[in-house]
Amino acid sequence: MPSSSAHLPLFLSLLLSSFGTILSSSSESDLLLTFKASVEDPALVLSDWSPNFTNYCNWTGITCSKTTSLVTSIDLNNRNLSGYISPSICQLPELSTLNLASNNFNQAITLQLTECSRLVILNLSNNLLWGTLPEQIGLLSSLVTLDLSRNHIEGQIPLSLGSLVRLKVLNFGSNFFSGIIHSNVLKNLSELVLLDLSRNPSLISQLPQEIGRVSKLRWLLMQRSGLYGTIPESLLDLHELEILDLSQNNLTGIIPLGLGLGFLKLASVDFSQNMLSGSFPIDVCYGKVLLELSLHENSFTGSIPKIIEKCSSLERLQVQDNKFSGEFPSGLWSMPQLKLLRAENNLFTGEIPDEVGVPSQLEQVQIDNNNFTGGIARGLGSIRTMYKFSASLNRFSGNLPDNIFDSPVLSIVNMSHNSLTGPIPEPRNCRKLVSLSLAGNSLSGGIPPSLGHLPVLTYLDISNNKITGEIPPELQNLKLALFNVSFNQLSGSVPASLVSGLPASFLQGNPDLCGPGLLNPCTVRPERQNSKNNGLIWTVIVISIIVGLMLIASGLLAVYRLSQSRPGSGKWKSVFFYPLKITEDELLMALVERNSIGEGAFGKVYAIPASDGEFIAVKRLLNSGNLSFRTVKAEIKTLAKARHRNVTKLLGFCYSRGTILLIFEYQQKGSLGDALRKPGFSMDWRFRLKVAVGSAQGLLYLHNDYVSQILHLDMKSNNILLGDDFEPKITDFGLARVIGEAAYKSSVASELGGYCYFPPEYGCIKKPTEQMDVYSFGVVLLELITGRPAEQPESRESLDVVKLVRRKVNMTNGALEVLDPKISSSAQQDMLEVLDLALRCTSVLPEKRPTIIEVVRSLQSLQPIALPPILTGDGELPCVE
Ligand SMILES: *[C@@H]1O[C@H](CO)[C@@H](O)[C@H](O)[C@H]1NC(C)=O
Ligand SMILES: *[C@@H]1O[C@H](CO)[C@@H](O)[C@H](O)[C@H]1NC(C)=O
Ligand SMILES: *[C@@H]1O[C@H](CO)[C@@H](O)[C@H](O)[C@H]1NC(C)=O
Ligand SMILES: *[C@@H]1O[C@H](CO)[C@@H](O)[C@H](O)[C@H]1NC(C)=O
Ligand SMILES: *[C@@H]1O[C@H](CO)[C@@H](O)[C@H](O)[C@H]1NC(C)=O
Ligand SMILES: *[C@@H]1O[C@H](CO)[C@@H](O)[C@H](O)[C@H]1NC(C)=O
Ligand SMILES: *[C@@H]1O[C@H](CO)[C@@H](O)[C@H](O)[C@H]1NC(C)=O
Ligand SMILES: *[C@@H]1O[C@H](CO)[C@@H](O)[C@H](O)[C@H]1NC(C)=O
Ligand SMILES: *[C@@H]1O[C@H](CO)[C@@H](O)[C@H](O)[C@H]1NC(C)=O
Repeated sequence: MPSSSAHLPLFLSLLLSSFGTILSSSSESDLLLTFKASVEDPALVLSDWSPNFTNYCNWTGITCSKTTSLVTSIDLNNRNLSGYISPSICQLPELSTLNLASNNFNQAITLQLTECSRLVILNLSNNLLWGTLPEQIGLLSSLVTLDLSRNHIEGQIPLSLGSLVRLKVLNFGSNFFSGIIHSNVLKNLSELVLLDLSRNPSLISQLPQEIGRVSKLRWLLMQRSGLYGTIPESLLDLHELEILDLSQNNLTGIIPLGLGLGFLKLASVDFSQNMLSGSFPIDVCYGKVLLELSLHENSFTGSIPKIIEKCSSLERLQVQDNKFSGEFPSGLWSMPQLKLLRAENNLFTGEIPDEVGVPSQLEQVQIDNNNFTGGIARGLGSIRTMYKFSASLNRFSGNLPDNIFDSPVLSIVNMSHNSLTGPIPEPRNCRKLVSLSLAGNSLSGGIPPSLGHLPVLTYLDISNNKITGEIPPELQNLKLALFNVSFNQLSGSVPASLVSGLPASFLQGNPDLCGPGLLNPCTVRPERQNSKNNGLIWTVIVISIIVGLMLIASGLLAVYRLSQSRPGSGKWKSVFFYPLKITEDELLMALVERNSIGEGAFGKVYAIPASDGEFIAVKRLLNSGNLSFRTVKAEIKTLAKARHRNVTKLLGFCYSRGTILLIFEYQQKGSLGDALRKPGFSMDWRFRLKVAVGSAQGLLYLHNDYVSQILHLDMKSNNILLGDDFEPKITDFGLARVIGEAAYKSSVASELGGYCYFPPEYGCIKKPTEQMDVYSFGVVLLELITGRPAEQPESRESLDVVKLVRRKVNMTNGALEVLDPKISSSAQQDMLEVLDLALRCTSVLPEKRPTIIEVVRSLQSLQPIALPPILTGDGELPCVE
């Protein structure tokens, strides 16, 4: 039987090889399990590391050799692991990669770990490793990549590192290494491509001449360490360099002549914040790919050669805070790629040429405190990318071109302290303008009223000019933190809400200006006052009649609509997510005035007693668009799945064409907004903090933990209900999803007083963002700190809380004045911290706002007692249809 005899050896060898695998596999998996045993794994990522799963090659993070089935790689980066790294894994015979980066291992690098002698890649970056690095690290002679960055390792850089002659990547950045960089180490590391010793402030060392031997270096990163002495000439030998960062050290002397010549790949050079002198290193420009050159905060002298135009790929040039002088090369203004140009605090002369702006992509220009002359070139206004233009303290003259504010992204303009004349141009496009400073010129004409329509304008300083006319009342629209018009020739009365909370010094030096707090209080002739008052009374009467009529009409309409769709007509469809002690009919019958407890942006809210005596809240959405039952049901079901102690439970809903009734659990205490508006509002700081933390947690849940992210988009104190013991519950979240974006926007916009919760970018951007909710939440925090509602529509002269706080905190002791005086001073420190947080949340620029996670953490850190862990949703909904 030839066939069976032919099969026998095959069978044997199969048997043998699988036997071999079983043998090694048992020991390999045992070694891994030993490793697992000493690791803390709160996120349970190692749950499949278990004898129950016999194929260890399939365990999380493990890679095996295809041929031998032995472990070659353990990659568990960023898994929230802590505990102890067991050296058992060093006995894995083929282990060549160990990546435990971005975890919380908190131990010294032990001698045993240096027994992993076959390692090619060792990455322990971004942990909490401490202690010194043992000399035995030199035993890991196969290493090609050694990344120990972002730990707390201290002590000398071991000399034995010189025996790791295969190293290509050596990253010790962000540690506490001390001592010096040994030339003997560098000599041997001739294969290195990346050397990162940055952010080791105790590494007080010269940069050895031997750095030139590391001739394959492409990235040399030594910023923010303790380098001193001169830059070695041998740097000229590193022809492969792409990124050179020696910034923030104590280097002296000059940059070696010729650095950059023959460097074809040099993309970024940073020598900033040293004590370097000498002239501009023009040679770095010869590589044709230089994107970034930073020389700022040194003592360079001389001029910048015109040949800088050769750096045609340059995107960022920073030469500020030096002693450069001479004519500023005009070619710089038309470099096609240049985005960032900083040259402030030098002695440059010259003009901005008229041709600036043709192909320009400039975003940020800072040339303050030089000796520039000539006019502000009209071309600047045509640069659509300009974000910041700062040219104060020069000798610019002439009129401002009328297009100067035209860039749609323009945010910061400072042309103070020049010799500019003529009128302030009307802003046309720049809806992002945050700060405008034109102080100390000779500008004339009036203040353009259209400044009042720039939604985010926060700093306005036009002091010390020759501005005339009245202060336009439109400026009252702005939430100004600084408003300085002192020393001009303004006249007339100051709009009341503009000055409340401002020191008069912002208005001084305008003899013809009158108003409260000024030398010259406005005197109004009595007859005019009277007729004005009469007019006012008439207006009020007319408006009340109109409003009354409208109310009656809308009431009739509502009754009509409701009767149209009473249960009898059979048009209602209801879905209850919880068993309710009330029938659909009873519910619909109970929607009567007697049960109404309030009116929100979207319609009335009712509190309806169920048969067990408990109440439920029913919210009637009038403006519900034309969404089908299916769509609405899907959206509401998503919302109803949100379950968190700080989020109101959605119990169900009823649908008919044009009306949706949302059924919520009822909170007897009402909302935070109700509480704030009660005369004599007083609430302990402890409870205010609890409300803040709880609602932030609710918001965090909606943003982050919840299955499909929900943006609230109508966060305000009226939508924070107070449960037992002041446990807050967020309500009315995500309604945009239920009634459609357009209907939602128009309802929200129609609501009185809601607007001060809106971030300035509201209406300017298409897609809503988390940062919008953070802004609104910041306003709620301000309400809790000041103890006053965001807006008090009844008193004409009062400011909304954001305006009020922004103005006050700019003054000495202003922050303390903001705090609710009803709270004892023992909470002052905490309140100031929350104030700081609230101010960051209400930053004008969305990117400056903290994330909701940061908000929760900051608030929690102020709480004396730990709260129970966040409850999470439990998945499926009971659905009673
Ligand atoms: C990470 O672990 C810490 C404790 O070690 C825990 O508090 C934290 O919640 C964990 N984070 C994640 C995302 O699992
Ligand atoms: C492994 O299986 C046993 C029995 O089936 C079970 O009791 C144990 O919980 C399992 N272990 C893991 C980690 O899944
Ligand atoms: C590896 O695990 C995945 C799921 O974790 C499973 O689908 C697959 O069958 C496993 N493969 C082996 C060879 O065990
Ligand atoms: C080390 O791991 C971290 C996290 O995965 C990664 O960002 C870093 O690039 C790795 N280091 C090297 C040198 O590959
Ligand atoms: C440098 O490498 C050579 C062999 O290539 C070795 O003999 C010497 O000890 C190494 N130097 C250091 C400082 O490790
Ligand atoms: C530079 O040297 C001074 C003393 O000369 C020292 O105070 C400073 O910390 C050093 N800076 C750095 C970045 O090492
Ligand atoms: C600017 O130029 C004027 C006249 O040329 C000179 O007097 C002045 O010192 C210069 N200022 C600076 C800061 O260079
Ligand atoms: C505008 O420039 C002046 C002078 O350089 C400076 O004092 C002021 O702080 C700047 N204003 C803003 C808002 O940056
Ligand atoms: C307002 O401008 C005047 C004149 O420029 C100046 O003296 C004063 O310090 C400025 N006030 C503030 C708060 O900037």
